[in-house]
This record gives sequence, structure tokens and C-alpha cells, in this order.
Amino acid sequence: KLKEALAPGNYWAKKAPALVAMVTNNSWGMTLGERHYAPFELGMAAMAYQLQAVQEGLYVHPIAGFNADLAKEVLGIADEDSIMVLMVVGYPGDSSHLSEKHLESENGKRDRLPLESVHAFNHFDKQLKPKGK
Ligand SMILES: Cc1cc2nc3c(=O)[nH]c(=O)nc-3n(C[C@H](O)[C@H](O)[C@H](O)COP(=O)(O)O)c2cc1C
Repeated sequence: KLKEALAPGNYWAKKAPALVAMVTNNSWGMTLGERHYAPFELGMAAMAYQLQAVQEGLYVHPIAGFNADLAKEVLGIADEDSIMVLMVVGYPGDSSHLSEKHLESENGKRDRLPLESVHAFNHFDKQLKPKGK
């Protein structure tokens, strides 16, 4: 039923054996002034989840492209809580049903930001901000 909430572009996730909802609420974590730690904690949990899954031979993709209201209804998640991502969990396999665009990114080179755009020494550098921010 949850698969009905997937955005059309996430058609590929329908083949996955499991979708895992990563849920949080700012009130679930520590808050210090303007800093709500719950999303940070969920991000850490998500990364740990992905690393362990890959260690066990699974593939995992976090996705934000889904109808959150429908997903919450299907899973019985309260209105005030947020499903930040669904984790699409599966085994690497047949890629013949993928669109041309997805085949290209599946088989293509991984593009990573250069170190200087994500890291600076001693002083914050405005080029660390996302473009246009
Ligand atoms: C927060 C978040 C939301 C994402 N939402 C989608 C999505 O809806 N559909 C999709 O195909 N990929 C989505 N992605 C990207 C995929 O998970 C992508 O495969 C992955 O980030 C690429 O990792 P890689 O370069 O290590 O393969 C999202 C990634 C993040 C971090």
C-alpha cells in the first residue's frame, strides 16, 4: 500500500522488497535555542542504517519523492510527525526496467563535490554555502 504513495519518478522503488520510513519530530530530540537535534539524529541513524545494510549485501536509496500524507495514513503515523525519507531497500539485480536516465546514473561515474566546497580551515568560507544561498 505504501508503494502507492511513491512519486512517479520513483517507479523503480516499486520492485524493492522493503521500504523503511525514517520518522522524526523536533520534539523527540534535544533542543538548544534555535538548534533542533532530532533531524540531525535521524540523519545519523539513516547513515548508520545504510552502512550496515550495504555491509550485509543490500542496496539502499533514501528518497523524498513520495506523498507524505498518504504514507502517514498507510503507516498510522501522526500528523505532527514527519517522514523525512523512505529508505528503499533491496538487492542489486536486474536493471533492465530502468529508464535511460536512471540506467545512465546507475552505471555512470559518481560525481562528488570538491573538498574545498564542503570544508574550510579556521574560518567559515562563504563558498561552503549551497549555491545561491
Ligand atoms: C534526502 C534525499 C532525498 C532523495 N530523494 C530521491 C528521490 O525521491 N528519488 C531518487 O531517485 N533519488 C533520491 N535521492 C537520491 C538517491 O538516494 C541517490 O541514489 C543517492 O543519494 C545517490 O547516492 P550515490 O551517488 O552514492 O549513489 C535522494 C537523496 C537524498 C539524500
